[in-house]
Amino acid sequence: MPGLGDVTGPRGILFGGDYNPEQWPEETWLEDVRLMKDAGVNSVTLGVFSWAKLEPRPGEREFGWLDRLMDLMHDNGIGVVLATPTSSPPPWLGRLHPETLPRDEDGRTEWWGGRQHFSHSSAAYRRYAAAITEDLAARYGDHPALTMWHINNEYCTYDWGDGAAARFRRWLQQKYGSLDALNSAWGTAFWSQGYGDWDEVLPPRHAHYMKNPAQVLDFKRFTSDMLLECCTAERDIVRRHTPHLPVTTNFMPLWVGQDAWRWVEEEDIVSVDLYPDPRDPFGAQSSALVQDLTRSQARGPWMLMEQAAGPVNWRGVNHPKPRGLNRLWSLQAVARGADAVCYFQWRQSRQGAEKFHSGMVSHAGEQGRTYQEVRQLGAELARIGDEVTGSHTPNDIAILHDWHSWWAGAHEGRLSTHVDYPQILTAWHRALWQAHLTTDFAHPEHDLTAYKLVVVPQLYALTDAAIDNLLAYVRGGGTLVCGFLTGVADEDDRVRPGGMDPRLRELFGIRTLHEWWPLDADESAETDGFRGTLWSEEIEAAGDVSVEAAYKGGELDGAPAVLRNGRAWYVSTLPEPHALRVLLTRIAADAGVRPVLDGLPDRVEAVRRGDLLFVLNHGREPVTVEVPDAQHDLLTGATVEGEVTLGRYGVAVLRS
Ligand code: GLA
Ligand code: GLA
Repeated sequence: MPGLGDVTGPRGILFGGDYNPEQWPEETWLEDVRLMKDAGVNSVTLGVFSWAKLEPRPGEREFGWLDRLMDLMHDNGIGVVLATPTSSPPPWLGRLHPETLPRDEDGRTEWWGGRQHFSHSSAAYRRYAAAITEDLAARYGDHPALTMWHINNEYCTYDWGDGAAARFRRWLQQKYGSLDALNSAWGTAFWSQGYGDWDEVLPPRHAHYMKNPAQVLDFKRFTSDMLLECCTAERDIVRRHTPHLPVTTNFMPLWVGQDAWRWVEEEDIVSVDLYPDPRDPFGAQSSALVQDLTRSQARGPWMLMEQAAGPVNWRGVNHPKPRGLNRLWSLQAVARGADAVCYFQWRQSRQGAEKFHSGMVSHAGEQGRTYQEVRQLGAELARIGDEVTGSHTPNDIAILHDWHSWWAGAHEGRLSTHVDYPQILTAWHRALWQAHLTTDFAHPEHDLTAYKLVVVPQLYALTDAAIDNLLAYVRGGGTLVCGFLTGVADEDDRVRPGGMDPRLRELFGIRTLHEWWPLDADESAETDGFRGTLWSEEIEAAGDVSVEAAYKGGELDGAPAVLRNGRAWYVSTLPEPHALRVLLTRIAADAGVRPVLDGLPDRVEAVRRGDLLFVLNHGREPVTVEVPDAQHDLLTGATVEGEVTLGRYGVAVLRS
């Protein structure tokens, strides 16, 4: 199978971005190439939104402009990631085939005039998408500029319309075989929902009161599967023409709509788009989470397909990146496994919805600070590329994450709407990040034996296989720590006996889970060691387990808050940030996991990648950090003895 290494091998770290030259006169293309070469750009992604330009009327083809661009890139040594243009169909498709337009839950049509107005279930959409993909692959498969394929863009659409309803029924027939099985899995005995004919089954459309959670859960699974079908159909076409070239599709960061563990099985390169807010004090950590997840999905190097060189234009207020931040965050991605540092987009648009979204070349042009910093970064990436690409270091800690559990746990009828899965995942990752403990992510059914510590922030729904996996992991000598609302439901979102799977209760030493006690937003639960937030539980511990923290005051006074049964820990609340960090540091130390470097200041991040040690200063003030032995800094060429000083947003890439 071809992979990212086949592309980076000849080129080093991929550096570049989405290039939308169809928005510009051809004179500008020559200027673009000059600036690209000057900045060390070695890869551009063409064609992401080019469908109407390539096929202005049904069945017509206009390839001339793209021929000239492919040649221009090749003549200048710039590789092309060619996108199938299928995420934004031309207006004629919606006009000719209104059934290609998705409907929302309330039955409203998503019209053309924006983008991503396609129904994953529409046969007409799929037919036209396949045809343009086929012709692109036939025309450019042998072109020497072509390095890889980029299918569609950020698959993220839903459809509640009639075409999707018909397809949903077929998906359900395949999954359940019979209506009886569907009625049982969905618990339709509740509220008179029993289905007597397949034609009665619908996507979970606008309803008077709360929808059936199992139906909603299956609809999310169905949507992810349909989008994946669209993706693999196009992948199969390009693979037939170019079996030697790798294929990717770009994810959004921690996007709710795709079961990305499943998706990555179908692509050769894992890529993600990442847009942290420059003002977010935890921007680096939220990026680190996505980077760790993406690296774990790739099981090695991955591709940062898009980031912004300056502001985005889709937040309420869109801040630019202060001097040095683009470089720092780009090198952070490399530290955490990226072998490609790419942007949306090369040149900032003058028209269209994203004209105030930054590009590598901003409205200020060549002399602008944005381009000048991009240029410096390009030179630095070229300097370290040989030593970095292809290298990978697995971590000792895995955080478990699963989309199906996230989907199930998000149902309308839950006990607290303050319990938000991504926030909980973030809180636990942040505590580990702040403790300078680097982590991988894993699926609950993955082989976990290589990890010393497995962390489960929250897995509301678990399959029997996942529970067996966790039990075997602890039995085999692993340390496990689980947060609240874990193991509550099975894969049909049926509550397990006792409110939490009995085998898990036994593992943690929980005799009875009497009640859940969610906390209001301004409320906290005191314990004898720390303050808990969001949630608390009325638990009765089994005789021989250790109560590591107990609730103090209130209804739960004296009841266990944190339980430890050998190497299995259960945390029934969300400890406030400092406490969670202290707790996880202690559990990690017991499991034999140490921080990357000792004594690091809070704002410094240290990450090992292969033989290299990346040290990153996330602050504006200079900082001096002790490092082991004598080291060579690949960025400056200097030898570093015992300590390294990093300036504002400074980075060192060290080799012993
Ligand atoms: C109402 C309804 C019941 C049930 C309860 C839940 O009283 O009549 O069917 O939904 O609310 O509080
Ligand atoms: C996404 C899309 C791009 C662009 C950027 C803007 O990542 O893939 O086309 O819209 O967002 O941030």
